[in-house]
Amino acid sequence: ELEPYQHYMQKEIFEQPRALSDTLTDVLEISPELFGDGAYSTFKAIDSLLILACGTSYYSALVAKYWIESLAKIPVQVEIASEYRYRDSVPNPRALVITVSQSGETADTLAALRHAKSLGHQHTLSICNVATSTLVRECRHSYITRAGVEIGVASTKAFTTQLAAFFLLTLALAQTKGVLSEAQINEHLQALRHIPSAVQAVLALEPQIISWADDFARMDNALFLGRGMHYPIALEGALKLKEISYIHAEAYPAGELKHGPLALVTSQMPVVVVAPNDALLEKLKSNMQEVRARGGVLYVLADANTHIHSDKGLHAIRMPEHSGPLSPILHVIPLQLLAYHTALGKGTDVDKPRNLAKSVTVE
Ligand code: F6R
Repeated sequence: ELEPYQHYMQKEIFEQPRALSDTLTDVLEISPELFGDGAYSTFKAIDSLLILACGTSYYSALVAKYWIESLAKIPVQVEIASEYRYRDSVPNPRALVITVSQSGETADTLAALRHAKSLGHQHTLSICNVATSTLVRECRHSYITRAGVEIGVASTKAFTTQLAAFFLLTLALAQTKGVLSEAQINEHLQALRHIPSAVQAVLALEPQIISWADDFARMDNALFLGRGMHYPIALEGALKLKEISYIHAEAYPAGELKHGPLALVTSQMPVVVVAPNDALLEKLKSNMQEVRARGGVLYVLADANTHIHSDKGLHAIRMPEHSGPLSPILHVIPLQLLAYHTALGKGTDVDKPRNLAKSVTVE
């Protein structure tokens, strides 16, 4: 069943157009009921969101925070499950507690949910890839992603389908709160429906990513930069690279460069920049200049219709099209491929990286 792929991770990266369209098949229109019976009254009752998760699922929640605050105008707090479960927090009974998980069995995420309930939280929702999981059973509402079974330890298709589910949630919340018109909601839904074919076009960039991976396989460190909703994508790119290629990688919001990490930049520290064509592009360009001026080598995922070209010390790959708020779903794909091909170059065990388990069911 692996044919024609060499690894499950590779298969799962290339399955993403299918996983995304399956996750959207039953969505005829935006409505709170996509999240289960009674979700309308829950969405009406809540005044904020508290999202709890681990690892890659946590990064999808970080992207969701940007979407939900900007489009649905609801305040969102995102917290790592293992932190939340053990700290004294101030519960807001009007918050909707959302847990996100591929497996639905991650020990810390389950414990965080139970902790939230013990503090009096009653509004709960899960975004999960396994309909029969403990997490789904223990949450009042849910959205089941249809990534299909994910075997590679490094999560790929689960992440992008979580993002699709979060975008649906964003639109359903905006609808319930009356902050977007039906026409605006439909426009966003159309853009989401186009995402599977947009992802397909991004996958065709693989040969260019392979040439980047040849460079990365010879490095010991890498830095990933992004701004706004692409900062979590930089975090996810760094996590993928460290997990499967064992290269030390860190991600920063690009505006933080000057506050420390710029000291690390040398010709031996490749800097990956997630550079969508958004309001922050000009700021990002000046961050890139700061890296080049110090001899750093940039690997830039430039958006369609931006004027960033390959040059001395700058390798640019141009994304096929621009997707507005959905652009994180597209920009993560080349980063998954970069980690995969770098790991191939290093000869590591891609599907079963050392020391890691697919599902972390113990603390
Ligand atoms: C990274 C990865 C992990 C998981 C994390 C949460 O590639 O796979 O960081 O995302 O262990 O797992 P789930 O989503 O099953 O709760």
